[in-house]
Amino acid sequence: MQPKQEIKSLLLLFGGQFTSNQESYGKSPFWILSIPSEDIARNLMKRTVCAKSIFELWGHGKSTEELYSSLKNYPVEKMVPFVHPDSTYKIKIHTFNKTLTQEEKVKRIDALEFLPFEGKVNLKKPQHTFSILEDYGLDPNCIPEKPHNIYFGRWIADGQRELIQSYSVKKRHFIGNTSMDAGLSFIMANHGQVKENDVVFDPFVGTGGLLIASAHFGAYVCGTDIDYNTVHGLGKATRKNQKWRGPDENIRANLRQYGLEKYYLDVLVSDASKPSWRKGTYFDAIITDPPYGIRESTRRTGSQKEIPKGIEKCPESHVPVSLSYHLSDMFFDLLNFAAETLMLGGRLVYWLPVYTPEYTEEMVPRHPCLRLISNCEQKLSNHTSRRLITMEKVKTFEDRDQYSHLPSDHFLAYQGHNSFREKYFSGVTKRIAREEKSSQE
Ligand SMILES: C[S@@+](CC[C@H](N)C(=O)[O-])C[C@H]1O[C@@H](n2cnc3c(N)ncnc32)[C@H](O)[C@@H]1O
Repeated sequence: MQPKQEIKSLLLLFGGQFTSNQESYGKSPFWILSIPSEDIARNLMKRTVCAKSIFELWGHGKSTEELYSSLKNYPVEKMVPFVHPDSTYKIKIHTFNKTLTQEEKVKRIDALEFLPFEGKVNLKKPQHTFSILEDYGLDPNCIPEKPHNIYFGRWIADGQRELIQSYSVKKRHFIGNTSMDAGLSFIMANHGQVKENDVVFDPFVGTGGLLIASAHFGAYVCGTDIDYNTVHGLGKATRKNQKWRGPDENIRANLRQYGLEKYYLDVLVSDASKPSWRKGTYFDAIITDPPYGIRESTRRTGSQKEIPKGIEKCPESHVPVSLSYHLSDMFFDLLNFAAETLMLGGRLVYWLPVYTPEYTEEMVPRHPCLRLISNCEQKLSNHTSRRLITMEKVKTFEDRDQYSHLPSDHFLAYQGHNSFREKYFSGVTKRIAREEKSSQE
Protein backbone atom coordinates (compact mmCIF):
# COMPACT_ATOMS: atom_id res chain seq x y z
CA MET A 1 0.00 0.00 0.00
CA GLN A 2 1.05 3.61 -0.43
CA PRO A 3 0.53 5.60 2.77
CA LYS A 4 1.06 8.79 0.77
CA GLN A 5 -2.40 8.48 -0.79
CA GLU A 6 -4.10 8.14 2.60
CA ILE A 7 -2.26 11.20 3.95
CA LYS A 8 -3.01 13.19 0.77
CA SER A 9 -6.74 12.45 0.98
CA LEU A 10 -6.89 13.37 4.67
CA LEU A 11 -4.92 16.59 4.27
CA LEU A 12 -7.31 17.69 1.52
CA LEU A 13 -10.27 16.77 3.72
CA PHE A 14 -8.97 18.98 6.54
CA GLY A 15 -8.05 21.96 4.41
CA GLY A 16 -4.35 21.23 3.93
CA GLN A 17 -2.42 19.98 0.95
CA PHE A 18 0.29 17.40 0.53
CA THR A 19 3.39 19.54 0.07
CA SER A 20 6.89 18.33 0.51
CA ASN A 21 10.16 18.63 -1.37
CA GLN A 22 11.15 15.15 -0.27
CA GLU A 23 10.98 12.49 -2.97
CA SER A 24 11.60 9.27 -1.06
CA TYR A 25 8.29 8.60 0.74
CA GLY A 26 8.23 5.00 -0.34
CA LYS A 27 11.79 4.28 0.77
CA SER A 28 11.94 6.06 4.10
CA PRO A 29 9.69 5.57 7.11
CA PHE A 30 10.16 9.27 7.92
CA TRP A 31 8.64 12.05 5.84
CA ILE A 32 9.03 15.80 6.05
CA LEU A 33 5.76 17.55 5.19
CA SER A 34 4.64 21.16 5.19
CA ILE A 35 1.34 21.35 7.05
CA PRO A 36 -0.27 24.79 7.45
CA SER A 37 -1.33 24.44 11.10
CA GLU A 38 -1.05 22.25 14.17
CA ASP A 39 -4.85 21.78 14.10
CA ILE A 40 -4.67 20.24 10.63
CA ALA A 41 -1.85 17.98 11.82
CA ARG A 42 -3.96 16.84 14.82
CA ASN A 43 -7.01 16.21 12.63
CA LEU A 44 -4.87 14.16 10.26
CA MET A 45 -3.61 12.00 13.13
CA LYS A 46 -7.15 11.44 14.46
CA ARG A 47 -7.78 9.58 11.22
CA THR A 48 -4.66 7.99 9.77
CA VAL A 49 -3.87 4.32 10.29
CA CYS A 50 -0.77 4.52 8.06
CA ALA A 51 1.18 7.19 9.96
CA LYS A 52 2.46 6.41 13.46
CA SER A 53 3.20 9.86 14.89
CA ILE A 54 3.65 13.46 13.86
CA PHE A 55 6.25 15.93 15.17
CA GLU A 56 7.00 19.59 14.68
CA LEU A 57 10.43 19.42 13.10
CA TRP A 58 13.07 21.54 14.86
CA GLY A 59 16.09 20.20 13.05
CA HIS A 60 17.46 17.37 10.92
CA GLY A 61 20.61 16.20 9.20
CA LYS A 62 22.54 13.27 7.79
CA SER A 63 24.93 13.29 10.76
CA THR A 64 24.81 14.50 14.38
CA GLU A 65 26.87 17.56 13.39
CA GLU A 66 24.35 18.44 10.68
CA LEU A 67 21.48 17.91 13.11
CA TYR A 68 23.05 20.16 15.75
CA SER A 69 23.75 22.97 13.32
CA SER A 70 20.21 22.69 11.93
CA LEU A 71 18.84 22.89 15.51
CA LYS A 72 20.98 25.94 16.23
CA ASN A 73 19.35 27.63 13.25
CA TYR A 74 15.79 26.91 14.42
CA PRO A 75 14.24 30.24 15.51
CA VAL A 76 14.37 30.58 19.32
CA GLU A 77 11.01 32.40 19.38
CA LYS A 78 9.41 29.20 18.03
CA MET A 79 11.00 27.18 20.85
CA VAL A 80 10.15 29.57 23.70
CA PRO A 81 6.51 28.48 24.35
CA PHE A 82 7.75 24.92 24.99
CA VAL A 83 10.98 25.48 26.91
CA HIS A 84 10.16 28.22 29.44
CA PRO A 85 10.95 27.68 33.19
CA ASP A 86 7.34 26.78 34.16
CA SER A 87 7.14 23.96 31.63
CA THR A 88 7.82 20.26 32.07
CA TYR A 89 9.31 18.11 29.35
CA LYS A 90 10.83 14.81 28.36
CA ILE A 91 13.08 13.69 25.50
CA LYS A 92 12.62 10.29 23.86
CA ILE A 93 14.67 8.36 21.31
CA HIS A 94 13.11 6.41 18.41
CA THR A 95 15.32 4.33 16.19
CA PHE A 96 14.20 2.60 13.01
CA ASN A 97 15.92 -0.70 12.17
CA LYS A 98 18.31 -0.61 15.15
CA THR A 99 18.12 -0.96 18.94
CA LEU A 100 20.23 1.30 21.13
CA THR A 101 21.46 0.57 24.66
CA GLN A 102 20.25 2.76 27.52
CA GLU A 103 23.75 4.24 27.76
CA GLU A 104 23.75 5.21 24.06
CA LYS A 105 20.33 6.81 24.48
CA VAL A 106 21.40 8.89 27.51
CA LYS A 107 24.50 10.03 25.62
CA ARG A 108 22.39 11.32 22.75
CA ILE A 109 20.03 13.18 25.08
CA ASP A 110 22.93 14.73 27.06
CA ALA A 111 24.46 15.98 23.81
CA LEU A 112 21.43 18.24 23.32
CA GLU A 113 22.26 20.39 26.34
CA PHE A 114 22.87 23.37 24.06
CA LEU A 115 19.07 23.60 23.48
CA PRO A 116 17.48 26.33 25.65
CA PHE A 117 15.38 23.99 27.85
CA GLU A 118 14.61 25.82 31.11
CA GLY A 119 11.70 23.71 32.35
CA LYS A 120 11.79 20.63 34.57
CA VAL A 121 12.19 17.09 33.31
CA ASN A 122 9.07 15.00 34.00
CA LEU A 123 9.22 11.46 32.67
CA LYS A 124 5.69 10.44 33.71
CA LYS A 125 3.42 13.31 32.65
CA PRO A 126 5.38 15.96 30.77
CA GLN A 127 3.63 18.92 29.15
CA HIS A 128 5.85 18.59 26.11
CA THR A 129 7.56 15.56 24.64
CA PHE A 130 10.50 15.83 22.27
CA SER A 131 11.99 13.07 20.18
CA ILE A 132 15.21 12.19 18.46
CA LEU A 133 14.40 9.97 15.46
CA GLU A 134 17.17 7.94 13.85
CA ASP A 135 16.70 6.23 10.49
CA TYR A 136 18.92 3.18 9.85
CA GLY A 137 17.23 2.23 6.57
CA LEU A 138 14.89 -0.60 5.72
CA ASP A 139 17.22 -3.58 5.35
CA PRO A 140 17.45 -5.62 8.58
CA ASN A 141 20.36 -7.58 7.07
CA CYS A 142 22.40 -4.49 6.42
CA ILE A 143 22.18 -2.10 9.36
CA PRO A 144 24.64 0.78 9.00
CA GLU A 145 26.83 1.88 11.91
CA LYS A 146 25.50 5.45 11.68
CA PRO A 147 21.97 6.49 10.75
CA HIS A 148 21.13 7.74 7.25
CA ASN A 149 19.11 10.59 8.75
CA ILE A 150 18.49 12.07 12.20
CA TYR A 151 15.55 14.26 13.15
CA PHE A 152 14.60 16.19 16.28
CA GLY A 153 11.11 17.51 16.92
CA ARG A 154 8.25 18.25 19.28
CA TRP A 155 5.70 15.45 19.41
CA ILE A 156 2.21 16.56 18.35
CA ALA A 157 0.04 13.43 18.09
CA ASP A 158 -0.07 9.70 17.37
CA GLY A 159 -2.09 8.07 14.57
CA GLN A 160 -4.88 5.53 14.92
CA ARG A 161 -2.98 2.27 14.54
CA GLU A 162 -4.62 0.80 17.61
CA LEU A 163 -7.86 0.65 15.57
CA ILE A 164 -6.33 -2.26 13.65
CA GLN A 165 -6.35 -4.29 16.88
CA SER A 166 -9.54 -3.00 18.46
CA TYR A 167 -11.54 -3.64 15.26
CA SER A 168 -9.73 -6.86 14.35
CA VAL A 169 -11.87 -9.30 12.35
CA LYS A 170 -10.67 -12.06 14.73
CA LYS A 171 -12.71 -10.55 17.56
CA ARG A 172 -15.70 -9.55 15.41
CA HIS A 173 -19.18 -10.88 16.08
CA PHE A 174 -20.27 -11.57 12.47
CA ILE A 175 -17.66 -12.54 9.87
CA GLY A 176 -17.49 -14.25 6.49
CA ASN A 177 -14.82 -15.73 4.21
CA THR A 178 -14.06 -12.37 2.67
CA SER A 179 -14.56 -9.97 5.60
CA MET A 180 -12.34 -6.99 4.93
CA ASP A 181 -9.28 -6.58 7.15
CA ALA A 182 -9.76 -3.76 9.69
CA GLY A 183 -6.65 -1.77 8.71
CA LEU A 184 -7.57 -1.77 5.03
CA SER A 185 -11.17 -0.82 5.83
CA PHE A 186 -9.96 2.30 7.64
CA ILE A 187 -7.56 3.15 4.82
CA MET A 188 -10.45 2.86 2.34
CA ALA A 189 -12.67 5.12 4.45
CA ASN A 190 -9.81 7.63 4.56
CA HIS A 191 -9.33 7.46 0.78
CA GLY A 192 -13.08 8.05 0.54
CA GLN A 193 -12.71 11.17 2.77
CA VAL A 194 -15.61 9.89 4.88
CA LYS A 195 -16.69 12.41 7.49
CA GLU A 196 -19.38 12.89 10.16
CA ASN A 197 -22.98 12.71 8.90
CA ASP A 198 -22.00 11.43 5.46
CA VAL A 199 -24.02 8.65 3.87
CA VAL A 200 -21.79 5.78 2.76
CA PHE A 201 -22.94 2.87 0.62
CA ASP A 202 -21.39 -0.54 -0.14
CA PRO A 203 -23.12 -2.36 -3.04
CA PHE A 204 -21.23 -5.62 -2.27
CA VAL A 205 -21.61 -5.33 1.46
CA GLY A 206 -20.92 -8.93 2.61
CA THR A 207 -20.51 -8.84 6.40
CA GLY A 208 -20.24 -5.05 6.37
CA GLY A 209 -16.53 -4.71 7.19
CA LEU A 210 -16.32 -1.51 5.18
CA LEU A 211 -19.43 -0.02 6.75
CA ILE A 212 -17.91 -0.42 10.21
CA ALA A 213 -14.89 1.76 9.36
CA SER A 214 -17.08 4.49 7.87
CA ALA A 215 -19.44 4.41 10.87
CA HIS A 216 -16.42 4.77 13.18
CA PHE A 217 -15.76 8.11 11.47
CA GLY A 218 -19.39 9.19 12.05
CA ALA A 219 -21.01 8.31 8.70
CA TYR A 220 -24.45 6.72 8.29
CA VAL A 221 -24.05 3.45 6.42
CA CYS A 222 -26.06 1.14 4.17
CA GLY A 223 -25.39 -1.64 1.72
CA THR A 224 -26.67 -4.38 -0.54
CA ASP A 225 -25.60 -7.93 -1.29
CA ILE A 226 -26.98 -10.55 -3.64
CA ASP A 227 -26.62 -13.24 -0.99
CA TYR A 228 -29.76 -13.62 1.14
CA ASN A 229 -27.98 -15.58 3.85
CA THR A 230 -25.24 -12.99 4.25
CA VAL A 231 -27.66 -10.09 4.50
CA HIS A 232 -29.84 -11.96 7.00
CA GLY A 233 -26.95 -13.49 8.94
CA LEU A 234 -28.09 -17.04 8.22
CA GLY A 235 -26.43 -20.18 6.92
CA LYS A 236 -23.11 -21.79 7.63
CA ALA A 237 -20.73 -20.09 10.02
CA THR A 238 -17.23 -19.09 8.90
CA ARG A 239 -15.62 -19.81 12.30
CA LYS A 240 -13.96 -23.22 12.52
CA ASN A 241 -15.60 -24.43 15.73
CA GLN A 242 -19.12 -23.32 14.83
CA LYS A 243 -21.47 -24.99 12.33
CA TRP A 244 -24.27 -22.45 11.82
CA ARG A 245 -24.48 -18.71 12.31
CA GLY A 246 -26.00 -17.70 15.66
CA PRO A 247 -29.26 -15.77 16.15
CA ASP A 248 -27.78 -12.27 16.12
CA GLU A 249 -24.92 -12.63 13.67
CA ASN A 250 -25.53 -9.77 11.28
CA ILE A 251 -24.21 -6.37 10.25
CA ARG A 252 -26.36 -4.41 12.71
CA ALA A 253 -24.94 -6.51 15.57
CA ASN A 254 -21.41 -5.84 14.30
CA LEU A 255 -22.02 -2.11 14.51
CA ARG A 256 -23.56 -2.56 17.97
CA GLN A 257 -20.41 -4.40 19.08
CA TYR A 258 -18.44 -1.18 18.52
CA GLY A 259 -21.12 1.20 19.86
CA LEU A 260 -21.97 2.36 16.33
CA GLU A 261 -25.51 1.04 15.89
CA LYS A 262 -26.97 4.53 15.53
CA TYR A 263 -25.12 4.83 12.20
CA TYR A 264 -26.84 1.77 10.72
CA LEU A 265 -29.34 2.70 8.01
CA ASP A 266 -30.07 -0.73 6.52
CA VAL A 267 -28.84 -3.55 4.29
CA LEU A 268 -30.89 -5.07 1.50
CA VAL A 269 -30.75 -8.15 -0.67
CA SER A 270 -30.14 -6.70 -4.11
CA ASP A 271 -28.14 -7.37 -7.25
CA ALA A 272 -25.55 -4.69 -8.02
CA SER A 273 -26.07 -5.27 -11.75
CA LYS A 274 -29.68 -4.08 -11.35
CA PRO A 275 -29.64 -1.27 -8.79
CA SER A 276 -33.07 -0.62 -7.34
CA TRP A 277 -32.52 3.06 -6.56
CA ARG A 278 -34.57 5.91 -7.95
CA LYS A 279 -32.54 8.42 -9.97
CA GLY A 280 -30.74 10.84 -7.67
CA THR A 281 -27.55 11.62 -5.80
CA TYR A 282 -27.68 9.96 -2.40
CA PHE A 283 -24.18 9.04 -1.34
CA ASP A 284 -21.14 10.96 -0.14
CA ALA A 285 -18.98 7.90 -0.69
CA ILE A 286 -19.29 4.43 -2.20
CA ILE A 287 -16.70 2.15 -0.64
CA THR A 288 -16.67 -1.44 -1.75
CA ASP A 289 -14.85 -4.69 -2.39
CA PRO A 290 -16.52 -6.40 -5.35
CA PRO A 291 -16.20 -10.19 -5.67
CA TYR A 292 -13.32 -11.50 -7.79
CA GLY A 293 -14.74 -14.98 -8.14
CA ILE A 294 -11.97 -16.53 -6.02
CA ARG A 295 -13.54 -17.04 -2.60
CA GLU A 296 -17.06 -15.97 -3.59
CA SER A 297 -18.87 -16.23 -6.90
CA THR A 298 -19.42 -13.31 -9.25
CA ARG A 299 -23.10 -13.83 -10.00
CA ARG A 300 -25.95 -11.64 -11.06
CA THR A 301 -29.64 -12.25 -11.48
CA GLY A 302 -31.14 -12.62 -14.93
CA SER A 303 -34.00 -14.15 -16.81
CA GLN A 304 -34.21 -17.26 -18.96
CA LYS A 305 -34.02 -15.01 -22.02
CA GLU A 306 -30.48 -13.98 -21.16
CA ILE A 307 -29.16 -17.53 -21.16
CA PRO A 308 -26.99 -17.93 -24.26
CA LYS A 309 -28.21 -20.13 -27.10
CA GLY A 310 -27.31 -23.78 -26.88
CA ILE A 311 -27.88 -23.96 -23.09
CA GLU A 312 -31.07 -25.64 -21.90
CA LYS A 313 -33.73 -23.24 -20.57
CA CYS A 314 -36.72 -23.79 -18.28
CA PRO A 315 -40.14 -23.15 -19.82
CA GLU A 316 -41.16 -20.37 -17.33
CA SER A 317 -39.27 -17.37 -18.63
CA HIS A 318 -40.08 -15.14 -15.62
CA VAL A 319 -38.10 -17.28 -13.16
CA PRO A 320 -34.94 -15.38 -12.20
CA VAL A 321 -31.77 -17.33 -12.81
CA SER A 322 -28.25 -16.84 -11.66
CA LEU A 323 -25.91 -15.81 -14.46
CA SER A 324 -22.19 -15.25 -14.28
CA TYR A 325 -21.23 -11.61 -13.87
CA HIS A 326 -18.12 -10.74 -15.88
CA LEU A 327 -15.68 -8.59 -13.97
CA SER A 328 -15.55 -6.01 -16.77
CA ASP A 329 -19.36 -5.67 -16.67
CA MET A 330 -19.24 -5.43 -12.91
CA PHE A 331 -16.77 -2.53 -12.92
CA PHE A 332 -18.62 -0.86 -15.79
CA ASP A 333 -21.86 -1.04 -13.75
CA LEU A 334 -20.10 0.10 -10.57
CA LEU A 335 -18.62 3.21 -12.20
CA ASN A 336 -21.93 4.11 -13.84
CA PHE A 337 -23.76 3.60 -10.56
CA ALA A 338 -21.23 5.79 -8.71
CA ALA A 339 -21.42 8.47 -11.41
CA GLU A 340 -25.22 8.53 -11.05
CA THR A 341 -25.66 8.32 -7.30
CA LEU A 342 -22.66 10.09 -5.77
CA MET A 343 -22.89 13.72 -4.73
CA LEU A 344 -20.60 15.99 -6.72
CA GLY A 345 -17.18 15.73 -5.02
CA GLY A 346 -18.15 12.33 -3.55
CA ARG A 347 -15.69 9.46 -3.81
CA LEU A 348 -15.76 5.91 -5.10
CA VAL A 349 -13.17 3.60 -3.50
CA TYR A 350 -12.90 -0.02 -4.64
CA TRP A 351 -10.51 -2.91 -5.23
CA LEU A 352 -9.66 -3.97 -8.78
CA PRO A 353 -8.07 -7.43 -9.07
CA VAL A 354 -5.33 -7.69 -11.69
CA TYR A 355 -3.10 -10.33 -13.19
CA THR A 356 0.24 -8.57 -12.70
CA PRO A 357 2.17 -9.83 -15.77
CA GLU A 358 -0.49 -8.29 -18.03
CA TYR A 359 -1.43 -5.25 -15.96
CA THR A 360 -1.11 -1.78 -17.47
CA GLU A 361 -2.54 1.46 -16.14
CA GLU A 362 -4.88 1.58 -19.15
CA MET A 363 -6.79 -1.30 -17.62
CA VAL A 364 -8.14 0.85 -14.82
CA PRO A 365 -11.76 1.61 -15.75
CA ARG A 366 -12.58 5.26 -16.47
CA HIS A 367 -15.76 7.28 -16.59
CA PRO A 368 -16.43 10.80 -17.90
CA CYS A 369 -17.94 11.84 -14.54
CA LEU A 370 -15.20 10.36 -12.34
CA ARG A 371 -11.61 11.57 -11.96
CA LEU A 372 -8.98 9.03 -10.97
CA ILE A 373 -7.43 10.19 -7.68
CA SER A 374 -5.16 7.28 -6.82
CA ASN A 375 -4.28 3.72 -7.75
CA CYS A 376 -2.31 1.74 -5.12
CA GLU A 377 -1.15 -1.84 -5.35
CA GLN A 378 -1.52 -4.62 -2.79
CA LYS A 379 0.23 -7.82 -3.82
CA LEU A 380 -1.80 -11.01 -3.45
CA SER A 381 0.68 -13.47 -4.95
CA ASN A 382 3.62 -13.52 -7.36
CA HIS A 383 1.35 -12.95 -10.31
CA THR A 384 -1.80 -11.35 -8.92
CA SER A 385 -2.52 -8.20 -7.01
CA ARG A 386 -5.41 -5.90 -6.31
CA ARG A 387 -5.37 -2.19 -6.90
CA LEU A 388 -7.10 0.19 -4.53
CA ILE A 389 -8.78 2.66 -6.89
CA THR A 390 -10.05 6.01 -5.67
CA MET A 391 -12.15 8.23 -7.94
CA GLU A 392 -13.95 11.50 -7.37
CA LYS A 393 -17.15 12.64 -9.02
CA VAL A 394 -16.31 15.80 -10.92
CA LYS A 395 -19.26 16.16 -13.30
CA THR A 396 -23.04 15.79 -13.01
CA PHE A 397 -24.26 12.58 -14.61
CA GLU A 398 -26.23 12.86 -17.85
CA ASP A 399 -27.85 9.97 -19.70
CA ARG A 400 -25.33 10.21 -22.52
CA ASP A 401 -22.47 9.54 -20.04
CA GLN A 402 -23.72 6.03 -19.44
CA TYR A 403 -22.15 4.43 -22.50
CA SER A 404 -19.77 7.16 -23.62
CA HIS A 405 -16.74 5.33 -22.21
CA LEU A 406 -17.66 2.04 -23.91
CA PRO A 407 -15.97 2.55 -27.30
CA SER A 408 -12.76 3.82 -25.67
CA ASP A 409 -9.54 1.81 -25.55
CA HIS A 410 -9.84 1.81 -21.76
CA PHE A 411 -12.93 -0.30 -21.91
CA LEU A 412 -11.29 -2.83 -24.24
CA ALA A 413 -8.27 -3.01 -21.92
CA TYR A 414 -10.26 -3.76 -18.81
CA GLN A 415 -12.20 -6.51 -20.52
CA GLY A 416 -8.99 -8.43 -19.89
CA HIS A 417 -10.12 -8.71 -16.25
CA ASN A 418 -12.72 -11.25 -17.26
CA SER A 419 -10.14 -13.96 -17.23
CA PHE A 420 -8.73 -12.98 -13.81
CA ARG A 421 -10.23 -16.05 -12.15
CA GLU A 422 -8.75 -18.51 -14.64
CA LYS A 423 -5.39 -16.77 -14.50
CA TYR A 424 -5.44 -16.75 -10.71
CA PHE A 425 -6.15 -20.45 -10.50
CA SER A 426 -3.80 -21.42 -13.31
CA GLY A 427 -1.02 -19.58 -11.47
CA VAL A 428 -1.94 -21.21 -8.18
CA THR A 429 -2.10 -24.63 -9.79
CA LYS A 430 1.30 -24.14 -11.36
CA ARG A 431 2.77 -23.00 -8.06
CA ILE A 432 1.39 -25.99 -6.17
CA ALA A 433 2.81 -28.29 -8.86
CA ARG A 434 6.20 -26.55 -8.58
CA GLU A 435 6.18 -26.78 -4.78
CA GLU A 436 5.22 -30.46 -4.88
CA LYS A 437 7.97 -31.13 -7.37
CA SER A 438 10.61 -29.34 -5.31
CA SER A 439 9.51 -31.11 -2.09
CA GLN A 440 9.95 -34.45 -3.84
CA GLU A 441 13.45 -33.56 -5.01
C1 LIG B 1 -15.52 -9.56 -1.40
S1 LIG B 1 -17.10 -9.81 -0.75
C2 LIG B 1 -17.36 -8.37 0.22
C3 LIG B 1 -16.87 -8.56 1.62
C4 LIG B 1 -17.18 -7.40 2.53
N1 LIG B 1 -16.37 -6.24 2.22
C5 LIG B 1 -17.00 -7.80 4.00
O1 LIG B 1 -16.26 -7.10 4.73
O2 LIG B 1 -17.56 -8.80 4.41
C6 LIG B 1 -18.14 -9.55 -2.12
C7 LIG B 1 -19.62 -9.70 -1.85
O3 LIG B 1 -20.31 -9.41 -3.06
C8 LIG B 1 -21.49 -10.18 -3.08
N2 LIG B 1 -21.95 -10.23 -4.48
C9 LIG B 1 -21.56 -11.06 -5.49
N3 LIG B 1 -22.23 -10.76 -6.63
C10 LIG B 1 -23.06 -9.73 -6.32
C11 LIG B 1 -24.02 -8.97 -7.06
N4 LIG B 1 -24.25 -9.24 -8.34
N5 LIG B 1 -24.69 -7.98 -6.43
C12 LIG B 1 -24.47 -7.71 -5.11
N6 LIG B 1 -23.60 -8.40 -4.35
C13 LIG B 1 -22.90 -9.40 -4.95
C14 LIG B 1 -21.06 -11.52 -2.52
O4 LIG B 1 -22.19 -12.20 -1.99
C15 LIG B 1 -20.07 -11.09 -1.42
O5 LIG B 1 -20.72 -10.99 -0.17
